Amino acid sequence: MTSTASDLDGAPDPVPPELDLSRVPVHVGCVMDGNGRWANARGLPRTEGHAAGEAALLDVVNGALEIGIKWITLYAFSTENWRRPTDEVRFLMNFNQSLLMRRRDELNEKGVQIRFAGRRDWRVPRRVLRRMDESIALTKNNSRMVMTMAFNYGGRAEIVDAVRALVAEGIAPDKVDERAIRRHLYFPDMPDPDLVIRTSGETRISNFLLWEIAYSELIFPDTLWPDMRRRHLYQAVVEFQQRVRRFGAVTS
Ligand code: FPP
Repeated sequence: MTSTASDLDGAPDPVPPELDLSRVPVHVGCVMDGNGRWANARGLPRTEGHAAGEAALLDVVNGALEIGIKWITLYAFSTENWRRPTDEVRFLMNFNQSLLMRRRDELNEKGVQIRFAGRRDWRVPRRVLRRMDESIALTKNNSRMVMTMAFNYGGRAEIVDAVRALVAEGIAPDKVDERAIRRHLYFPDMPDPDLVIRTSGETRISNFLLWEIAYSELIFPDTLWPDMRRRHLYQAVVEFQQRVRRFGAVTS
């Protein structure tokens, strides 16, 4: 069973009137969790849950485009996910590659720039790296939205890589500050996420964008990722808009 965006029933969910389109988060991060549980509940292999997650991904990205979110980052494979069973890892490598092949033209036509955050190490098959590079090249001039796939990504690894780059530059200790580290993150131009959504009710970050989420609002809907649709994104944005962000200061 392969899900596609066309599996979605009927018209897309409308934007709720209580969502203030003038205060939409600039950057939303998503931890796409719950695919395995979704599949188990149906007596299906875990991989079918990942496959069903594709329709969710597309609907959420389309919903984000609809309300003017400029950056979206999707956690697709962590530096720790190599610990999963070999068959699942192999599936995820192929799935991410085939998802790109299936979806990149449609994303490109919608003005989405595709990026990848993570380590390009020897464990990522060369054909997957090739597809990633093709998608980056195809969409590099798009500016309606930046969609970053966090792939072979770890927040701690990103900070380690930034520190390594600083050391390689021969930086003096007193020149190491937050700005210097930020300059060496995978995407220095990427604004910190305003909102991070982790589906499936788990209330963990699991090594996602550790540096960048210092002041993000976190929302943990119970929805399993394959059931996630743009209406859940809209609900999360409405909840985000009710939060008071202080960034360490006080509100008057
Ligand atoms: C973190 O939980 C979650 C992720 C790294 C997301 C992984 C997502 C997928 C494998 C599916 C990708 C789906 C699509 C549609 C591209 P964790 O399980 O790594 O961490 P935990 O052990 O703390 O729960």
